[in-house]
Amino acid sequence: MIKWINQGQEYVPGYQKFCTVIFNLPAAETFIKEEIMSLQRLDKILSGQNIATRSETKNMVKKGLITVNGQTVKRSNEKFDPDTDEFIVNGIKIVYKKHLYIMMNKPSGVLSASRDGRTKTVIDLLPEHLRRDGLFPAGRLDKDTEGFILITDDGELAHKMLSPKSHVYKLYLAECDRELNKNDVKAFSEGIQMGDLQFMPAEMKIIADKTALVEICEGKFHQVKKMFHAVKAEVVKLKRLRIGEVSLDNSLKQGECRELTQKEINDILSRKHGINV
Ligand code: URA
Repeated sequence: MIKWINQGQEYVPGYQKFCTVIFNLPAAETFIKEEIMSLQRLDKILSGQNIATRSETKNMVKKGLITVNGQTVKRSNEKFDPDTDEFIVNGIKIVYKKHLYIMMNKPSGVLSASRDGRTKTVIDLLPEHLRRDGLFPAGRLDKDTEGFILITDDGELAHKMLSPKSHVYKLYLAECDRELNKNDVKAFSEGIQMGDLQFMPAEMKIIADKTALVEICEGKFHQVKKMFHAVKAEVVKLKRLRIGEVSLDNSLKQGECRELTQKEINDILSRKHGINV
């Protein structure tokens, strides 16, 4: 958000802004710094990173416990650029993360929602060090579906990951109530029509009598279950194994999570597909 601040004054949008930029160079400089360098208040930066609440930051500033670029900070509302400035809080160097990207192995029985009054959600399962405001599950897994769910506060990445236009493929392991056969594989590969619903062609690979891998890039409600239902098989267990080119980390037990690596963040939007890729 653009903020127009000059020596404690706040400017209303419009003509005054224009004049300020054209005629008042110090104000223009402040504007350019705030807009281009994304300056933010120290207390906001630290609370956003789940490092300290605003009042804790105030107290630490009072005690001289926070330095930025080697200088002791005097006011907790002083503004800095979190991307480039170096923060040391109580002797500890802060690694600023604009967004968090968390891979969770969702257990069955947990909702993929931000908050629910009654039922546990994936957000409730986050460990303390990975909590911060604004986190949400990118996409939905049914309550009884297990496996890879991405939790992030990066709306742009989530949007891209979920849009069918991005062709981000998701791989599922589905166990059904009957033996699967090559007619099922063919039906999936041709795309499935179910009343008003049209599912795009999907690759299916049978790996045991009643179990198959299925890859889809749409995210329609109960999609995998509905596709099997259309060929008269019911899914009894469903687990998501991969998003884009990022596979669920086998070392994560149910309910556990970890941050994605930078490579995984890039790979999650990968367009490549194919069950064996
Ligand atoms: N398809 C489903 O049917 N359920 C899920 O949870 C995910 C995909």
